[in-house]
Amino acid sequence: TWTTENVVDEQVAEIRARVGAKRAICGLSGGVDSAVAAALVQKAIGTQLTCVYVDHGLMRKGETEQVEKDFVAATGVQLKVVDASERFLTALAGVCDPEQKRKIIGREFIRVFEQAQAEIVAEAGAEGEDVAFLVQGTLYPDVVESGGGTGTANIKSHHNVGGLPDDIEFELIEPLRKLFKDEVRMVGQELGLPEEIVQRQPFPGPGLGIRIVGEVTRERLDLLREADAIAREELTAAGLDRDIWQCPVVLLADVRSVGVQGDGRTYGHPIVLRPVSSEDAMTADWSRLPYDVLAKISTRITNEVAEVNRVVLDVTSKPPGTIEWE
Ligand code: XMP
Repeated sequence: TWTTENVVDEQVAEIRARVGAKRAICGLSGGVDSAVAAALVQKAIGTQLTCVYVDHGLMRKGETEQVEKDFVAATGVQLKVVDASERFLTALAGVCDPEQKRKIIGREFIRVFEQAQAEIVAEAGAEGEDVAFLVQGTLYPDVVESGGGTGTANIKSHHNVGGLPDDIEFELIEPLRKLFKDEVRMVGQELGLPEEIVQRQPFPGPGLGIRIVGEVTRERLDLLREADAIAREELTAAGLDRDIWQCPVVLLADVRSVGVQGDGRTYGHPIVLRPVSSEDAMTADWSRLPYDVLAKISTRITNEVAEVNRVVLDVTSKPPGTIEWE
């Protein structure tokens, strides 16, 4: 029978047998899948696992800290954090095209991650050659979508699909390969991961980089981070987190409109709220959020975020709109 306990026991035994006395590394993204995969492997091989978290500077408020503190506190895992924000922002300078942004972020991510891998291997000294495994939080839908010759239409370049180099020298451990998202959440719960990690809504790998329509700069990221934090705070306060699939908050950096604040004219940017309901992100409907919640978010964002003088609501289903704007 399928129980989360059985899944955990089975995977732990299998991973132990495979890894033996060798070592593994795991990339953490801040998302549910990589967190649960890491916790599972950690349970199996303890200190033989090292996790790597690449901070690309495109994360939302508090996200890096959540990985650094909450995840480590819950699992006791060895974590290497790489601050690569400068590198990502430099690579993204002047780039406005969504696909180009995605490719740059994907490429830089792999480079930084490989560099961190090499450092871990080097630090392990003579035991370096024992670092033989790479843990990935691949889910069943990922396996199906990224091949099997199904010919799924390629709408966007998801940063973590097909991103691995051909000459990869690691064996892969993918303990969630047969699971769906809700099952992964149950396994995470069984492993004792905190609610805030297990129940996280999906967040794209390229992060806020694809939620700024226009060039990505540090100032714009700071601005969007503030607006996003307010929207999340109010949605959580209204008890709506479980009702919506996710709510991208998008900065239209190249658009300006006239407003009036205090007794002066403003010429600021709009923020788009994109709350959606979905089963699997393949299709989605715009969420009918209560007007009073929308009003609160709008008032707070325009009051608290300088340079934003308008909040608009995206009322488009998927299709024709995708969930993210880029
Ligand atoms: P779209 O915008 O294609 O998004 O309707 C569908 C779901 O996928 C997420 N998404 C990504 N997740 N890497 C990810 O890990 C990516 O590059 C990426 N792009 C989109 C999006 O947030 C939504 O949940």
